[in-house]
Parts: sequence; structure tokens; C-alpha cells
Amino acid sequence: MPNIASSACAKLILLGEHAVVYGQPALAIPFSSQRIKATVEPLIGSPSGLIRIIAPQLGLDTPLEELSEDNLIAQALTLSLEALELTQRPTCVLRIHSSFPFASGLGSSAAITIAIARAISSFVGHPLPVEEVNAIAFKTEQLMHGNPSGIDNTVIAYERPLVFTKGFPVEFVMPGDTFHFIVADTGVKKSTALTVAQLAQHRLEHPQRVDSVILKIGNLVGVGSRALLSGDNVALGLAMTDNQGYLHELGLSSPELDTLINKALEAGSLGAKLTGGGQGGHMIALVNEADISTIQQALLDAGAKTIYTTRLEKA
Ligand code: MEV
Repeated sequence: MPNIASSACAKLILLGEHAVVYGQPALAIPFSSQRIKATVEPLIGSPSGLIRIIAPQLGLDTPLEELSEDNLIAQALTLSLEALELTQRPTCVLRIHSSFPFASGLGSSAAITIAIARAISSFVGHPLPVEEVNAIAFKTEQLMHGNPSGIDNTVIAYERPLVFTKGFPVEFVMPGDTFHFIVADTGVKKSTALTVAQLAQHRLEHPQRVDSVILKIGNLVGVGSRALLSGDNVALGLAMTDNQGYLHELGLSSPELDTLINKALEAGSLGAKLTGGGQGGHMIALVNEADISTIQQALLDAGAKTIYTTRLEKA
């Protein structure tokens, strides 16, 4: 069997994280320059069916059997091998490398699963279709996050801008203009499972207050996705900043995020907010191309740990 290299992109939620867990729509785009790569090579001379996993960023160099059942990589491999209905496991080494940080709002858990499902299925000569890869990643998201909406695995599996609403068909969105974004890392890691659980608790305590904010976020997603479609940078930016206000109200921002978001706005961003689970991780700013270097510098001066630029091309 030949060596196989597959990958999966990171993702950016432009509008609607958290509210999407409660049935509201959310708008997400692939972050294609940032990827998790999975490579599979035959392990010649090793016992049949041995899968060795090497993931230095996760401190792993171990056979699959030695990983605990709830380990994400073990789950991703087991579910992929089940979907392939193989009579015998392949004998191979699986290497995993990420270009972006884990637990910071960019979809690393879904991307790990998708990269693994793609790599192992290609290695055995039966690449799984995107729908199956997506379904496997939703299962691992459930195991890792408890109550995921499914947006992360969907946008990463399809690698296209989309509006996602739980229980409804995905709506792909064709951008009406090119949009430029700056993404900055607060350097604070935060588990999405934790922020989702915190909001669920907050909602139990204040159902009406939380539900009214969730609904307002959902309405902004409608405004923002129409703006994306019509190429209206200004309207999309305003929706993003308004969305940040609601996320802040729900207790999902953090001092580090607030600092970077305010600096990005002061330096001329069209809109800025946290992206993903919040309370740490990354923020995203929509910017005019001409302002990129000024805003990047302002974010670095304000303490951003890593800065990325990305753009969404006009369809
Ligand atoms: C995480 O990227 C997005 C959340 O809305 C959780 C989810 O939708 O599963 C916070």
C-alpha cells in the first residue's frame, strides 16, 4: 500500500456560535490555509493489524490499543475502520500534524477526525465520501463536546462557506465580494465543551433572558449572510460586532478577547468578534484590504500571540 497524505482545514464562525446549539442558524467559513495533516504509511515487519500513532503536538507515539477509549484519535480511527467494514485492520503508522493550535476555537477536534477518516480510508483504497466523513466527525464531536450543533464538522468536511441550522439541510453561500479577515490568538486555551455547558447552565437559570439573546443572534445571522451574499462588507462587519455584544452579554467573551476586539475596531476593522467556543481562543476581524497591516500591528501591540490573515474570494 502506498503512503497517503490527507488533510482537513480549520474553520471560522463568522456569526452565530452557541446560538446554533439552540436551533438558530450560524454562518461559517473554511480557514483553508490552516490544516491538520494525517499521513499513513505501511508498517512493514510489524504484527498484522498494528496501527502506530505519532502525534508529537499531542505527546503521542503509541499503538492504537494503548490509547484510552475516549481518546479523540482512537475514536476517529475506530469509527472510520467500522465505516470501512474491513475484515482486517491495516498495519500502518498514522502521523498527525496541525498548523494551528488545539482548543482555541478553530475546529481542531473535527479537523483531526476528518483528516484521519480521509487518510485511513484512502490508505485502504476506499476513500469515504464526504457525507460519511462528516457523520463520523459529528460522532466524535458528540463524544468530545457532549452537545455539539454539528457546524464544525460540516464546514470542515465540505470546506465551503455555509449557513448551518441544526436539523436542516446545509445552505452553501456564494460570497458576492472578496472579504478580508484577520484572525488573532489570545493564547488562552478553552474547551468548547466547557463554554457550551456553562451557557446551558446559565440558560437553565435565566431561560427567558438567554433565549431572547439567542434569538437576537439568530436574527443577526440572517442579516450577515445576506450581506455576505450581496458583497456588503460594511453590513457584515456591523453584524459581527453586534454579535460580539450578545456573546459578551452571555458571558462568553474574556478580558483578552475584549482587548483584541476593541483594538481591532479602534484600528479600523469593519467588525470584530470572538470565533468558536469563546472565553479564550481566537478573535476574528473583518477588514478592508488596505488596513490589514495597520490592524495586524495594533493586534500584536495589544498582545495577540499569533496573527493570521485570510480571505474569502468572491464566487
Ligand atoms: C464551536 O465551534 C461552536 C459552538 O457553537 C458549539 C457548537 O456549535 O457545537 C460553540
